[in-house]
Amino acid sequence: MSSPAQPVEPLAGDEVHIWLVDPDAITDPALLARYAELLNPEEVARRDRYRFDKLKHDFLVARALVRTTLSRYAAVRPAAWQFEANQYGRPEIHSPAIGGRLRFNLSHTRGLAAVAVTWDRDLGVDVESIDRRNSTLQIARRFFAPAEVDELMSFPRGEQGRRFFDYWTLKESYIKARGMGLALPLDQFAFCTQARPHVTIAFTPPLEDDPAAWQFFQDTPSPRHRLALGIRHPAHDRLRVTTRWTTPLVD
Ligand SMILES: CC(C)(COP(=O)(O)OP(=O)(O)OC[C@H]1O[C@@H](n2cnc3c(N)ncnc32)[C@H](O)[C@@H]1OP(=O)(O)O)[C@@H](O)C(=O)NCCC(=O)NCCS
Repeated sequence: MSSPAQPVEPLAGDEVHIWLVDPDAITDPALLARYAELLNPEEVARRDRYRFDKLKHDFLVARALVRTTLSRYAAVRPAAWQFEANQYGRPEIHSPAIGGRLRFNLSHTRGLAAVAVTWDRDLGVDVESIDRRNSTLQIARRFFAPAEVDELMSFPRGEQGRRFFDYWTLKESYIKARGMGLALPLDQFAFCTQARPHVTIAFTPPLEDDPAAWQFFQDTPSPRHRLALGIRHPAHDRLRVTTRWTTPLVD
């Protein structure tokens, strides 16, 4: 039996809501069984393809997060959402129609899943666990834009491992907001994380995009995690971003 729809929560036109969950904190078998009831057959098959229970668990909690979050904003049961993916794998709501275009993006990493929602704008969210510090400079040199490598190298050596994740999450948030993932060349756009008052992006041909059409937000949801949100909306008209923790179907 699927869960009842929750009351609809307001999401103003100038807002983005980010909901966070710590999958490791959800251990109640009865609650996890309710999450499993939300999955469609395709999601069940995908979960079952994971070899390790931990990955199955994280997948289940992330699906529950997406479905219950969307149901905060529309009178739709969490199990009723149907999704379709674009050619690069980006999922969008396919049905039911709810009288507006609710957009979302999901990211997960060790110990954290995040979903961002807004009305009718391209958005991408990325969360990374920052306790992996190996090889960060080699990765930066290989994948980042030259200006980003220069900026990263300008920080004191002891900060570079942490700062690396600022660029990584921002870059992921942009390619996810574009819905194209790694089909976009990572070295053809560069973030300046030291710009004031907000992070800026610059593009190098052949990547054609307008820096003024984007805004970016950063957060540190836990001491172990870094988060970035990218959203296609004029940079001068700053959106309001709210981040909250949740336990799906509980609060
Ligand atoms: C697939 C990709 C879009 C995100 O991958 P990721 O960072 O490993 O994973 P995240 O947890 O942030 O995001 C995954 C979710 O994004 C969504 N997603 C999938 N394809 C997407 C796309 N093309 N655009 C936007 N969102 C997408 C899905 O909801 C997916 O969840 P699921 O895998 O549980 O179905 C892509 O950017 C990728 O493969 N990145 C690899 C990491 C990397 O090399 N980054 C370099 C940064 S410098």
